[in-house]
Amino acid sequence: MRRVVCPGSFDPITNGHLDIIGRAARLYDEVTVAVLINVEKSSLFTVDERIEVLRTVTKDFPNVNVRKFHGLLVDFCRQNDIPAIVKGIRVVSDFDYELQMAQLNYRLSGVETLFMPTNPEYSFLSSSRVKEIARYGGDVSGLVPDLVHKLLIERLRG
Ligand code: PNS
Repeated sequence: MRRVVCPGSFDPITNGHLDIIGRAARLYDEVTVAVLINVEKSSLFTVDERIEVLRTVTKDFPNVNVRKFHGLLVDFCRQNDIPAIVKGIRVVSDFDYELQMAQLNYRLSGVETLFMPTNPEYSFLSSSRVKEIARYGGDVSGLVPDLVHKLLIERLRG
């Protein structure tokens, strides 16, 4: 069984994330989407809300499951017998940051990191930009799954 984890905050999931998850699901037998519980960072959606959304938007991928984790990602990997992490790379600055994280994670545990180039259609996309656009009334349709679009409007514009 070839397993991989797609970790992140997913506050909220974007079409860029979904593209990476879907492509990973074609390469691996099992993909675990792992949502970080981060008490230090304020979020728009609770971890449980994010998990529910992730489960809904990945329901067409039978080999994708969604879990939450806290602490080190490599500990989560070890506990769940997952030998590799997949990360989307949008731009060169992502690579700078992700390379250090990948090397640290490998040094800590031997868990490998695979980089997947983001679909160019989404290379400018991030959860924080999506939230900012939606907060000020901009149109984020096509950038996030329809469910997320609806939830953003409800949450941000009351
Ligand atoms: O979507 P994000 O916020 O960019 O995801 C970042 C995430 C969750 C992948 C990263 O912060 C993470 O792995 N955090 C868990 C703590 C950890 O393992 N840190 C790495 C030490 S080298």
